[in-house]
Amino acid sequence: MLPVFHNTLDFARQQDEDDPLQNFRHRFLFPQHNDREVVYLTGNSLGLQPKSVRTALEQELSDWAMLGVEGHFHATNPWWKYHEPVQAPLSRIVGAKPNEVVAMNGLTVNLHLLLATFYQPTEGRFKILCEAGAFPSDDYALETHVRMRGLKPEEVIVEVAPRDGEKTLHTEDILEAIRKEGNSLALVMFAGVQYYTGQVFDMKSITYAGHQVGAMVCFDLAHAAGNVPLMLHDWSVDAAVWCSYKYLNSGPGGIAGLYIHEKHATNKDLPRLAGWWGNDEKERFQMKKGYRAAEGAQAWQLSNVPVLLMAAHKAAVEIFDEAGMERLRVKSELLTGFLEFVIRDIAGSRIQIITPSNAAERGAQLSLFIEKNGRDVFNHLMAQGVMVDFREPNVIRAAPAPLYNSFEDVWRFGEALKGALAQ
Ligand SMILES: Cc1ncc(COP(=O)(O)O)c(C=O)c1O
Repeated sequence: MLPVFHNTLDFARQQDEDDPLQNFRHRFLFPQHNDREVVYLTGNSLGLQPKSVRTALEQELSDWAMLGVEGHFHATNPWWKYHEPVQAPLSRIVGAKPNEVVAMNGLTVNLHLLLATFYQPTEGRFKILCEAGAFPSDDYALETHVRMRGLKPEEVIVEVAPRDGEKTLHTEDILEAIRKEGNSLALVMFAGVQYYTGQVFDMKSITYAGHQVGAMVCFDLAHAAGNVPLMLHDWSVDAAVWCSYKYLNSGPGGIAGLYIHEKHATNKDLPRLAGWWGNDEKERFQMKKGYRAAEGAQAWQLSNVPVLLMAAHKAAVEIFDEAGMERLRVKSELLTGFLEFVIRDIAGSRIQIITPSNAAERGAQLSLFIEKNGRDVFNHLMAQGVMVDFREPNVIRAAPAPLYNSFEDVWRFGEALKGALAQ
């Protein structure tokens, strides 16, 4: 149960004092505004830099300088196996087994690899179900895969849209759409958390319903990984992808993630696009012909590990592991609840929060629909050292990340919003 909130600095500071995760904030670097830390509420876009990332990068640069190519085997973190130490902490973040996850490539690249394996249209079963208004990269990936198979997107892709006058989806509408498509459905490809509205979809029920009609069920977890509780393995999700530069704080363009359920990851005959890094490790340097899949999700790797990106990622997920997803979630619900309270206290009905108010249906982000002058409100906040982001045509997204944001940050956001609305 959430406490009774008060929109005062004293209340916010008391919450910070009682916060068991308060010290994690000091492990991050905050951009400055007028010699003061900004109120950083854009961790859903680019997470802050953990201080430990610089040390981790320096280690690899030093090993590279001292060892050259020998670093592959003799670096402090031998480069040829550098994906391995990240698997266990990553698996805890997404609720999987270590050999079901691997960090590699960018999100959209991984999405294409996922579709190459899990979208196998047949004459009768060829449709893909997704949410309307998905992130453009997801739309483009689906559209081009469909065309590559000689099919027409308008005959294949089925979008579930909000009801008239609404902005978020009803779970029952998604499940009904799955049942309606039935045997024609080859793949359900949904976001875990919708990037625009911040709505968390019921991944467990969607997966169950998809499997009931014989479809594969996959998720884009760009806004979910490190944000909301995930149990990919137990929910029997077939495959998923995510990026690491948002809540996972692994740096701009950071290395992305892929999850493949072990029932598929152990099936070496699945169709896929392969590269030498996904080949059986024992044979990797034998330069033999004929791809032989490695064990687990790492079989989907294409290229050798981008060590500098992986070093930043490893340092970042280690912090996550220390904090633990359960404790982060407890704080996240409080912090987002406080943000909602502060916005309602200040703006009343002038701002419509389109993110669901039910905690189970949202993570750290609130999307504020501002009918008029949204861009001006955004500009005013930024000028006050409050970093949020703006998504056309009129939504401001504010995301208090429980790893480094404080209750005082949320209170300061409210004060700046007051100023913005007064203008
Ligand atoms: C939901 C979602 N999918 C896909 C992407 C594209 O990610 P990338 O550029 O890392 O491939 C993003 C980027 O923000 C995203 O939010």
